[in-house]
Amino acid sequence: MASELEYYHTPVLLKEVIELLITDKNGIYVDGTIGGGGHSEKILEALGEKGKLYGFDKDIEAIEYCKEKFKIELEKGGNSRLELFNECFSKACSITRHRGEWTGFLLDLGVSSRQLDESRRGFSYRRVGPLDLRFSPHGTKAEDLINAASEEDLAALLRKYGEEPFAKKIANAIVRQRKLTPIKTTVDLAKIVEGVVPRRILTKSLSRVFQAIRIAINDELNVLEKALQSTLACLAKGGRIVVISYHSLEDRIVKNFLRNNSMQRNRKEATIVPKLKILTPKPIMPCEEEIKSNPRSRSAKLRAAERIA
Ligand SMILES: C[S@@+](CC[C@H](N)C(=O)[O-])C[C@H]1O[C@@H](n2cnc3c(N)ncnc32)[C@H](O)[C@@H]1O
Repeated sequence: MASELEYYHTPVLLKEVIELLITDKNGIYVDGTIGGGGHSEKILEALGEKGKLYGFDKDIEAIEYCKEKFKIELEKGGNSRLELFNECFSKACSITRHRGEWTGFLLDLGVSSRQLDESRRGFSYRRVGPLDLRFSPHGTKAEDLINAASEEDLAALLRKYGEEPFAKKIANAIVRQRKLTPIKTTVDLAKIVEGVVPRRILTKSLSRVFQAIRIAINDELNVLEKALQSTLACLAKGGRIVVISYHSLEDRIVKNFLRNNSMQRNRKEATIVPKLKILTPKPIMPCEEEIKSNPRSRSAKLRAAERIA
């Protein structure tokens, strides 16, 4: 690893991820959200010479960072245990399936600290920047959505993806404001929210509004559902799936996917062969010590399962 690289992100539940994910040192692993490569670094450390790790990220900046971070490994060319893909993790199965079944698949959802701290990405209401919020430079920017969507659609989006109690009022204020002047920056949007939401819940509302817009812009929930389903076609028997989510909407999707494909739900449904065994009856969450040293880990929930058929 190139140690002079700038800080990128602190990996969450690192020890727990490695313990649950790695079952064969020479297996094939996929890190669907490689980010700053914090989890991948430990995966590589745990792997033997014949092990393989495919790292995916939609954000080209994460891939470029990992190229530098894992330079020594990547310079091994054909013998490198690591390969990087600037692609959505929902494509990981179709891209890699011809290379062999997976021993482990990791998803650490959401945004990295680098993305949050980089004002030009617009992910954080705490930084002045353009309303972009995309993981990759393709598709609709948040600015376009905010300035074009109908008031009803905006309210529905804030309710559905942010569970925001003031959704209707915020949507109304957005529409009123954009008639005067287009909403272009994170601060423009934050000011609108500030104008309609009680001060005591302002921070929470701002987080919920930015989360809702990010989810919508990147179609995050549909992508997650699709990716989880496709995983079943690539995961080897005994292979593990480990997912860390950061809000209830994501966690619900993961929980339902694992339950719907596991023995737990299918016990009475003799005709359905369960495909997974749940390894975490309750989600694993960071301990106080981890939350103290990395406050951004506080909402993390890890769920894992093993392919059994
Ligand atoms: C929480 S960070 C991962 C951090 C990483 N585990 C580490 O240790 O540095 C989440 C990453 O997932 C990426 N991401 C989000 N949605 C994605 C998608 N659909 N496909 C691929 N990458 C995605 C983001 O760009 C971000 O880099």
